[in-house]
Order: sequence, then C-alpha cells, then structure tokens
Amino acid sequence: MSDRELAGTTALVTGASRGFGRGIATALSRAGAQVVGVARDRGQLEDLRAELGGSFTPEPADAADPVVAGQLIDAYRPTVLVLNAGATPLPRPVHHHTWQTFSRNWEVDVQHVFHFTREALLAPLAPGSTVITLSSGAALRGSPLSGGYAGAKAAIRWLTGYAAEESERAGLGLRFVSLLPQLTPATDLGARYVAAYAARQGGAQAVPAASGPAAQASSAPAASGPPLTPDLAGQAVTDLAADPGYREPAYMLTAAGLRPLA
Ligand SMILES: NC(=O)c1ccc[n+]([C@@H]2O[C@H](COP(=O)([O-])OP(=O)(O)OC[C@H]3O[C@@H](n4cnc5c(N)ncnc54)[C@H](OP(=O)(O)O)[C@@H]3O)[C@@H](O)[C@H]2O)c1
Repeated sequence: MSDRELAGTTALVTGASRGFGRGIATALSRAGAQVVGVARDRGQLEDLRAELGGSFTPEPADAADPVVAGQLIDAYRPTVLVLNAGATPLPRPVHHHTWQTFSRNWEVDVQHVFHFTREALLAPLAPGSTVITLSSGAALRGSPLSGGYAGAKAAIRWLTGYAAEESERAGLGLRFVSLLPQLTPATDLGARYVAAYAARQGGAQAVPAASGPAAQASSAPAASGPPLTPDLAGQAVTDLAADPGYREPAYMLTAAGLRPLA
C-alpha cells in the first residue's frame, strides 16, 4: 500500500468536524488527498481547515439533505467518499424512546448514506472510486440503550451491499465497503455509550454482552484492549482507500485494524 495512490485525488468525508470523521479527514489529507469535509458545525470545520491548510475544504451542511448530496457529488466528483456522519441517539431503554427518538439514526445516518450512495451510482463516480460507509459493531450485537441505532447501522451495511451489486451489474467499477467499528470511549458518541452501559451494568462491562445468533455471527470483541481512536480509524480508512486489494464488502474496525467479515 502506498499513500501515493491518494496523492491528488479528491476525498469527501461526512461528519468531518469531530470524532472518527475528523481523524479520517486528517489522515486522508496527510496521505495527499484533497479533502472536502461536511458537517453542520462551521466553526469546527474552520478549525480543521486551519490545521490542515489548503488540502481541506469545509462544506458546512446537513448531510441528510438530498439536495446537499446531489450538489456535493456534482461539484467534487470524489474518488473516495466516506459516509461517516451519524447522530448520537438518546441513551435510554427502548420503552423510554418515542418513535421520533427511536428513528433518529434512520433519519440521519441511513438517510444520508441513501442519498449519497444513490448520487454516487447515478453520477456515476469514476471507475475505481471507493465508497466507504460507517456501520457499527452494534449491527451485529444489538444496542439496547440506543433505540433504532443498531437496526439503522445494519441497514447501512445492507444498503452498501446493494449498491455494490448495482455497480457490478452496470459495470461501473465502483468499490463499496462498510466498516463496523468497535464501541470506543475516544469519541463524543462512543464515550456517551460506554458510560451509559457501564452505569446500567454496574461498571462491569462497557458493551452489551453478545448472545444469540447475532453474537455467533459476530466475532466482535467487547470493549477490552486498547480503544479505537480517531487517528487509528483514519489510518485504517486511508489504507483501505489506497489499496484496491481490500475487496471484502465489510470489515470490523478495531484498534488492531480492519478484519474482514464473512
Ligand atoms: N464511536 C463509536 O464508538 C462508534 C462505534 C461504531 C460506529 N460508530 C459510527 O461512526 C460514525 C462516527 O461516529 P463518532 O463516534 O465519530 O461520532 P461523533 O464524535 O458524535 O461525530 C459525529 C459526526 O457526524 C456529524 N453529523 C451528525 N449529524 C450530521 C448531519 N445531519 N449532517 C452532517 N454531519 C452530521 C457531526 O458533526 P456536526 O454535529 O457538526 O454536524 C460529527 O462530525 C457514526 O456513524 C457512528 O454511528 C461510532
């Protein structure tokens, strides 16, 4: 793998203002890509621009807005598209959710992946382009304190697979990959859930215990070992984007890197 593969390419990262997205935007920029960062917080995007210089272009916007997806794909035609933006659901047991809070990650995470994926296929992006979506280990394990989050993240994995199939059928040559990160306290979203599960389980365990068929399908580790950080996520995404040899449809993402999922 060589970062030279990314020199001069254009990457678009949603949710670039903080957390994994900021780490991913930073790593791609340092690998030589021109990075377009999308998030709603203009100030945090401007801070990142000050840090990364001219290789980073802030695009303050709601990534779940279909017009935004169309405009940005038309304007930038990225060869690396990282669909990372995600809402933080209320950390509550299911019966303390309303339908609106339960479905929040469908409205933001799934909706933005839907719009951007659709635009990537319709454009279409150039052959050899890579679209990376952020699912979650919760898609395999469940996440009983976050309403519809786990289902939304499973839908993102399916949607990414469907898009790969459509690219194949139309001969577009696009690579679609979903990543399932391990829960980590190293981002705002993750820290909130590590704390919520620790409180619920008396501090004994930071993630829901794996059980049932979904758990058997998952070899995702619980929150042991070193945590996944935004820097490590950035390195993993950069490696994947630069190396067409990553051909699996989905990977677990932990501090140890990427591990293919069957
Ligand atoms: N951290 C974990 O443990 C973990 C585990 C598995 C999967 N994930 C997934 O990884 C992704 C990143 O998570 P994170 O932990 O880095 O979260 P985070 O620190 O809360 O960051 C979320 C990012 O998404 C952006 N965002 C949220 N809603 C948006 C919208 N409507 N339009 C544009 N940007 C929006 C936020 O920026 P603004 O608020 O400025 O818009 C922010 O940049 C998410 O999809 C998450 O579900 C995280």
